[in-house]
Amino acid sequence: MTAAEVGDDVYGEDPSVRTLEETVADLFGHQAAVFVPSGTMGNQVCLQLVVPPASELLCDADAHVVTYEHGAAAALGGISSRTVPGPLLTAADVEPHLRPAGWGTVVTAAVSVEQTHNRAGGAVHPLADLQALRALTCAHGIALHCDGARIWNAAVASGVALSAYGTLFDTLSVCLSKGLGAPVGSLVVTDAARAERARTVRKRLGGGMRQAGVLAAAGSYVVAHHLERLAEDHRRAALIGQDVGVLPQTNIVALDVHDGPAFAAAARDHGVLVSVVGPRRVRLVTHLDVDDCGARRAADVVARLAPAHLAG
Ligand SMILES: Cc1ncc(COP(=O)(O)O)c(C=O)c1O
Repeated sequence: MTAAEVGDDVYGEDPSVRTLEETVADLFGHQAAVFVPSGTMGNQVCLQLVVPPASELLCDADAHVVTYEHGAAAALGGISSRTVPGPLLTAADVEPHLRPAGWGTVVTAAVSVEQTHNRAGGAVHPLADLQALRALTCAHGIALHCDGARIWNAAVASGVALSAYGTLFDTLSVCLSKGLGAPVGSLVVTDAARAERARTVRKRLGGGMRQAGVLAAAGSYVVAHHLERLAEDHRRAALIGQDVGVLPQTNIVALDVHDGPAFAAAARDHGVLVSVVGPRRVRLVTHLDVDDCGARRAADVVARLAPAHLAG
């Protein structure tokens, strides 16, 4: 990062940002990528590209875009969101809910899926289901967006190439700052024309950054060096889940407990930080900074707390 060559990225003059954008676009089989400060901004830029104001986004009820982004699609993009029971949407789940123009109803402009799915415990959308969704959205002339905050984990867990996932979507938002371990940053991945518009939307949202090359350099580093090692995070998550009968597909261990805050407090007392994601649901996430020793410790603590706390 300290050696990064920088320029003014709002003018498109930061070589380190450009390198990162080109590398990531290429990995996902797209023409272009745009560096943004966060996954939330990445999603919101993408949604504004594919869903005109007063049109509709369809997504699953637990999707990050409608759960954790504080109503941004509506507040900032004028987008109406409708949710379908999920979490891993299939074409059959979505088709009955599509609303074409001319019905006197709000028009469905895009479908969004999350790969991997955060609140579904890091579950991976099967490639065949995504291909069927692509065929459905193409047939209806609507866009398909991917919240790919952890799509890297999906690729490593499934063996499916990033480009095989990437080319199914009109827009993707992918994060460098999660399991890959960069301090900050995400990218909007799409075609060249949309990428141009994305730079305008990003600026409007306050995400145009000047000498962002220091951050982009970290991003390029983690893409080059930390992708394959995500398999270690998956192995460690499996270790944490195994004694309590939870087998995560990737790096998120979701636990159903009697009382989420009480479980988190007890785990914290034993030195393990756990996120509360619902009154009776918690999650543990493995990443670059959790080594074998840490994972074993978390596994011991979860197993020790399980008899009193785990539901079911
Ligand atoms: C699935 C998913 N999408 C988007 C985001 C947003 O990323 P950020 O925290 O960088 O805004 C997250 C963050 O946890 C996430 O889990």
